[in-house]
Amino acid sequence: MTEGTRTARRFRSQDWFANPDHIDMTALYLERFMNYGITPAELRSGRPIIGIAQSGSDLNPCNRVHLELAKRVRDGIRDAGGIPMEFPVHPTFENCRRPTAAIDRNLAYMALVEILHGYPIDAVVLTTGCDKSTPSQVMAAATVDIPAIVLSGGPMLDGWFEGELVGSGAAIWKSRKLLAAGQIDEAKFMDIATASAPSVGHCNTMGTASTMNALAEALGLSLTGCAAIPAPYRERGQIAYETGRRIVELAFEDRRPSSILTRDAFLDAIVVNAAIGGSTNAQPHLMAMARHAGVDLRPSDWTEFGFDVPLLLNMQPAGKYLGEAFHRAGGVPAVMWELQQAGMLRSARPTVTGMTMEQNLEGRQSVNREVIREFAHPLKSQAGFLVLSGNLFDFAIMKTSVISAEFSARYLSHPGAEGRFECRAIVFEDSDDYHARINDPALAVDENCILVIRGAGPVGWPGSAEVVNMQPPDALLKRGITSLPTLGDGRQSGTSDSPSILNASPESAIGGGLAYLRTGDVVRIDLSAGQCNMLVSDEEIARRKHEGTPSIRPSQTPWQEIYRATVGQLESGACMELAIKYRGVADTPPRH
Ligand code: FES
Ligand code: MG
Repeated sequence: MTEGTRTARRFRSQDWFANPDHIDMTALYLERFMNYGITPAELRSGRPIIGIAQSGSDLNPCNRVHLELAKRVRDGIRDAGGIPMEFPVHPTFENCRRPTAAIDRNLAYMALVEILHGYPIDAVVLTTGCDKSTPSQVMAAATVDIPAIVLSGGPMLDGWFEGELVGSGAAIWKSRKLLAAGQIDEAKFMDIATASAPSVGHCNTMGTASTMNALAEALGLSLTGCAAIPAPYRERGQIAYETGRRIVELAFEDRRPSSILTRDAFLDAIVVNAAIGGSTNAQPHLMAMARHAGVDLRPSDWTEFGFDVPLLLNMQPAGKYLGEAFHRAGGVPAVMWELQQAGMLRSARPTVTGMTMEQNLEGRQSVNREVIREFAHPLKSQAGFLVLSGNLFDFAIMKTSVISAEFSARYLSHPGAEGRFECRAIVFEDSDDYHARINDPALAVDENCILVIRGAGPVGWPGSAEVVNMQPPDALLKRGITSLPTLGDGRQSGTSDSPSILNASPESAIGGGLAYLRTGDVVRIDLSAGQCNMLVSDEEIARRKHEGTPSIRPSQTPWQEIYRATVGQLESGACMELAIKYRGVADTPPRH
């Protein structure tokens, strides 16, 4: 569309700036924008005001590139005839925010809803990157339902150390085992960690950040190819400019998230998540985005549509390469092209490009088959999440794309009992308890144990912590046993290669079955049947229930208390439950 062919429409911002019924208020709304040089004529011209939700700051280094990229977004908006207005998004920095960045996803969501509803903004560019910055902003755009487009900041360049690729997060999980086994010293551990972060951008592995940006693109919210472009590449600035241009057209077309975020789009995202070896955090985040969009996504959809999908992307932690190779091989469209050819997608659906997903994918096949495999020659044939239930929880997931040959041989491949094994539970109350006791010889942890952590869910932590990928005690690591089965009501980092059973819901803090498990109990896991149970009689469980749930720490801030009072479980997205009923709030203008 060009300016000449656009259909004229009255934007909601004109309620503020050109409202004959409220001339006194209009004067008040207008005057302070003058103080940085905008003219009344611009604001009253009927051109759309385009918000740039700025998630970059010194407190979110993963997204800091957006401080630069926003200049190109502004150029694009201006060139296409819009008026940019940039404003901050509450930071959600994964590595540094204590007690966990997860507690801020709903806070950033809620704050962005208020901004988009309460200010004269007609459409918005969402600047995404670090893990929660993508779902929080998409959730808000879904609630408000004004035209919105996702601009990923892009991953860091690939990390290298002593001639080997070192991926962010993944390098730390690997090196801390070497450190515990005495194979490297602390100085080298630190060198490897810092080498994994060589430039601006978010994690260069297929951790939660790259996963969520890939899924935003798969949903149809980004320009084609946007998610994977590394942050420092020239194409990143170029797509920022194109994103700025495109959002103006979306404003004129009034193409809203509600027309893009359909059940088909979410089912495709589940399929893509498996094919890229995506983060287990995709489960709560996709569920949260779907619920705010009013889409009925079910826990069983992960098994039904997402399990039997091959792993096509060879990227850490499930594979070998990092973000640069992914982008050069064709990025998200090349993975989706394979899935599309195999009939795995529902791609005749609208996207922000103005074309269908099917059209976006035309001619986008992989140019590097070592990095993005053909559908017929995948890295693994079934790569999705396994959904489990039983008397310990109603719902938990396990990421099968990261199951190592070592793990599989030890637990999953016994003749006649494939996928079924029993372990002695070692139960930790939280991560402090784990660190304090994991090397205690009295626990006698061996390869027949499962490490269990509780108190790590949305209410218990609060926020739900990435702690389930517990490593075995040093003594086992020194014997070459690098992973044990783990289970918990928290999450784990998307960069971890641990096949943990996680996101267990309901969590122990609200009386889920995990609350009544004790060290020494036997846990039976049957992956084929999707079952995980403690072999404890119903009578004994009932008796333990009388003793109550393990205590949790008191809230330390007002938001922690509000969060705990309003949050749901990971199974249903850990949403602020009272917020789900609000949808399309841009259609109910705030009073003057
Ligand atoms: Fe921010 Fe990984 S810590 S993207
Ligand atoms: Mg993380």
